[in-house]
Amino acid sequence: MTARIIDGKAVARKLRAEYAERIAGLKTHYGVLPGIAVILVGENPASEVYVRNKIAACKDTGIHSELYRLPADTPEATLMARIDALNADPAVHGILVQLPLPPQISLPDVLERIAPDKDVDGFHLYNVGGLVTGNTVFPPCTPFGVQKLLEHEKVEIEGRNVVVVGASNIVGKPMALMLMQQDATVCICHKKTRDLGQFTLLADILVVAAGVPGLIVPQMVKTGAVVIDVGINRLPDGRLVGDVDFEGVRKKASMITPVPGGVGPMTITMLLHNTLVSAERAISAGR
Ligand code: GUN
Repeated sequence: MTARIIDGKAVARKLRAEYAERIAGLKTHYGVLPGIAVILVGENPASEVYVRNKIAACKDTGIHSELYRLPADTPEATLMARIDALNADPAVHGILVQLPLPPQISLPDVLERIAPDKDVDGFHLYNVGGLVTGNTVFPPCTPFGVQKLLEHEKVEIEGRNVVVVGASNIVGKPMALMLMQQDATVCICHKKTRDLGQFTLLADILVVAAGVPGLIVPQMVKTGAVVIDVGINRLPDGRLVGDVDFEGVRKKASMITPVPGGVGPMTITMLLHNTLVSAERAISAGR
């Protein structure tokens, strides 16, 4: 068997075109321009790249963006005051504080300060709680992107065995909840899991977000499985690879996402989606 390669770039392009139309419609019918505020604290090189890409994608899709750069030694109170001002600004529909944050700033306090109605990252406890009960407004962007990819590829979820490798708050845990909500049988594996392959071999759908290059080799994959690689790892030789041995596993899987060009382009696309939805909700609520 040779897997079909899921083209995340193409799916992202198609969705972004749909969102751009909806965004243009909001302008025409309501005079509303969806807006996002991005806060970047410090100068983490990876964060710089992510933020640049997010802002470029907003521009392409017709979303207004504002970037607030704060120095690495910014006191927590200064960041909180900025968030408060953005919470109160009706032109801002989404607030994104780029992670990681410097150590003097409490991550949970920051995430809870963002108004749940503007939490386009989906990290506020209110939205996390919604994931548990199955009615979240803003699903977190990376697992949401995976869900959209599976939907686009018409992968059946109900009753299938899903194994999620990685239990982070940003990807693994929300991913597991979202697929459980779609009636999959879900297993979460993580750093302390013993004999990982014993679990991954059961997966009809395997989602890997461990941050370990080459972690998943063909012997750990069921023939015909759908393999979604969320990992993005930079090797010493400069190559960008996922967590899955792509060349090996593609010979065994039925579908597989490449790195780059798989899940990556979907993450920012879902941020655009959430910002658009936030603007639509604000219009409906008369805000
Ligand atoms: N850093 C790495 N991933 C993310 C993300 O999805 N959102 C934010 N705000 N920061 C991140």
